[in-house]
Formats: sequence, C-alpha cells, structure tokens
Amino acid sequence: MKKYKIAFFDAKDYDKNSFIRSNKDDRFEINYFDTRLTEDTCRLAEGSDVVCVFVNDDVNRKVIDTLVSMNVKLIALRCAGYNNVDVEYAYEKIHIVRVPAYSPYAVAEHAMALLLTSIRRIHKAYIRTKDFNFSLNGLTGFDLHGKTVGIIGTGKIGRIFIDICKGFGMNVIAYDKFPAEGSGINYVSLPEIWEKSDIISFHCPLTDENRHMVNAESIARMKKGVVLINTSRGALIDTEALVEGIKQRQIGAACLDVYEEESNVFFHDYSNHIVDDDTLARLISMPNVIVTSHQAFLTEEALSNIADTTLENVEEFFENDYSKNEVCYKCPDVAKCGQKHSKKCF
Ligand code: NAI
Repeated sequence: MKKYKIAFFDAKDYDKNSFIRSNKDDRFEINYFDTRLTEDTCRLAEGSDVVCVFVNDDVNRKVIDTLVSMNVKLIALRCAGYNNVDVEYAYEKIHIVRVPAYSPYAVAEHAMALLLTSIRRIHKAYIRTKDFNFSLNGLTGFDLHGKTVGIIGTGKIGRIFIDICKGFGMNVIAYDKFPAEGSGINYVSLPEIWEKSDIISFHCPLTDENRHMVNAESIARMKKGVVLINTSRGALIDTEALVEGIKQRQIGAACLDVYEEESNVFFHDYSNHIVDDDTLARLISMPNVIVTSHQAFLTEEALSNIADTTLENVEEFFENDYSKNEVCYKCPDVAKCGQKHSKKCF
C-alpha cells in the first residue's frame, strides 16, 4: 500500500496518542498540527492526500477550494457530526468521510453525569468540602425518579440515554424528525416536549432547520424550572435566549457540553486570560449552569475507536474504492447516508 500523507489539524496529545497506537507499522505518514483548519492554515496540507479534522475545524467553501487546488482527495472527519463542513459545496470536488459511531455510551453517560452533577449540586459540594465547609445549605436537589425527560433525537446516543433514564425510573417522551417505527419509544410532538418535560436532552444533529430550536418562544412554552442538557451541538440553543430564560427563573439549570461560539474557546487553556466572550462568561458565572468543553466523547474507548475507524476509512477509500462512511448531501437522508451505501458517492 502506498504510504498516504495525512495532515492532522487541531491535534491534541490525546489524539496523537491514540492515532500513533492505531497507525501500526507506520502505514500512514501523519503530520500533526496544533492549529485548527481554517482559510489561513489550510496551506499546511500542501502535499497531503488527506486532511483529518475535528468538530471546530472550519471547512468552508474557500478551504474546500484550496484543498482541491492542492490535490487533497479526502476530508476525514474524526467525529460524527459534520455541520462544520460545507457538504453540499464539496460534492463532486472532494470526498468526505466520518466516524458515525465511536462510543455513543461515552456521550450518553456524560449527559447523565452532567444532569446528576447539576441537580444534586455535586459541583458545589466538591468545592465546599475541599475547603472543609460541610454545610448543606443551598444543596437541596430533586429526585429523578418519576420526572419526565424529553429526548430530542433518538439515534444511537439518544436511545442509550433513554435506557439510562429508564433505569432511573423516569418517564421518557421523545421527538425525532424520523421516528423509529417499532422501537417502542413514546414519540410526541416538539411542542409537547417543550410543555411536558422536566428535563430536556438534545441528541440530534445540527441542521439549518433546527438551529436555535431553543429560543425565546420555545423557552416560554417550557415548564418553569426545566433543566436543559446539550451534548449535541451548541447552535441548537440561542444562547442569549438561554441566558435570559435563566435570569427570568424559567430555566432551572443548564448542562452544556457544547456552545454555539465554542470554536474560539473550547479545547484551549484560557485560565490566565480575560475571556472576551461576555455571554460565555455570564453563563459560567451562574450557579445553575455547568459547562464542559465538548468533552462528552472523551473516553479511552471512544478515542481508540475514532483512530481505528478514521484510518480504516482512509485505507478503504484509496485502496478498495470503498467508502461506507462517506458523507454526501445527495443521499436522500443525509443523516443516514453512511449506512446506506458502500461505494463512493461520486
Ligand atoms: P444519530 O445519527 O445516530 O442520531 C441522530 C438522530 O437525530 C436520528 O434519529 C435522526 O433521525 C434525528 N434527527 C435528525 N434531524 C433531526 C431534527 N431536526 N430534529 C429531531 N431529530 C432529528 O446520531 P448520534 O450518534 O446519536 O449523535 C447525535 C448527535 O450528538 C450528533 O449529531 C452530534 O452533534 C452529537 N455528538 C456530540 C458529541 C460530543 O462529544 N459532545 C460526540 C458525538 C456526537
């Protein structure tokens, strides 16, 4: 097999470790770049066959044109979501592959970790006892048992989260644009999710249609004190409306692993800096908001699956004219495209 060159953007130590382990016998030449892929950095891929990118790399039209002009043949996403890639513009110019599932358990378990931390005030208790403050004042939580949880998106992650919630004795209702027939899931309309849920958790992809599905109007329909969990994509929530909803006491708590402006901040250490993003600073200052920096996927199992599947995708693409995990906008249902075919899309 030819030794294909991969330009690996936004590389962190944990990425490098898992890809080095997976790149047995140095099958691929991987050049790791700390920087994100943007219009300013895409020239670093000169001479590469593949660019390997993550959730906050910006694969817009200009980046695609530059990659194509440099004869890069493949964009290998090492994640499931692809809202950061102009998939329609890429069609017939450059192929895109992704990792459709690496550990749905990792994300669903993180969603529950955030929920429990928030409603049982573990984040507060941890800091108190570190300071030998053993007071319980202000730490009163509520039982999950018997509460109604609304799940938006019942794919791989959503279904695991449903099972976890059922284990807690919660009443589960769900909304999906493409409900899974025969799944036994109790589907309801989106307005019913807003109106009936004590807790709402997002597990659908971000599309033009559902951007800011949580906005002033939907927040007004929600139960007072509702808890929102977003481990999906930040822009599902209009953050300004979220801040206002929390200030009005309409939203009881927010558990956020994703944030719509995260690409400038997440994955970096700003602990010695003044953060310019006032909205993020306001959210973080609120006692009932927990923010993790797009960490839900970060388990040993997921990292290892991501590395193995990404390199398999590259090998299959070049060696076998085969691309089961290709993403293309022409397939009737983009979200399911990867599962429907094995040949390249164009
Ligand atoms: P999946 O493709 O298995 O399931 C997505 C579900 O959403 C499908 O059932 C689909 O029919 C449904 N859906 C599509 N459009 C919808 C809409 N407009 N409204 C409601 N439902 C809709 O995807 P999976 O693996 O469960 O992942 C879900 C999302 O989780 C991903 O799109 C990604 O954004 C996010 N994710 C976050 C990670 C993190 O580290 N925070 C890691 C991995 C994924």
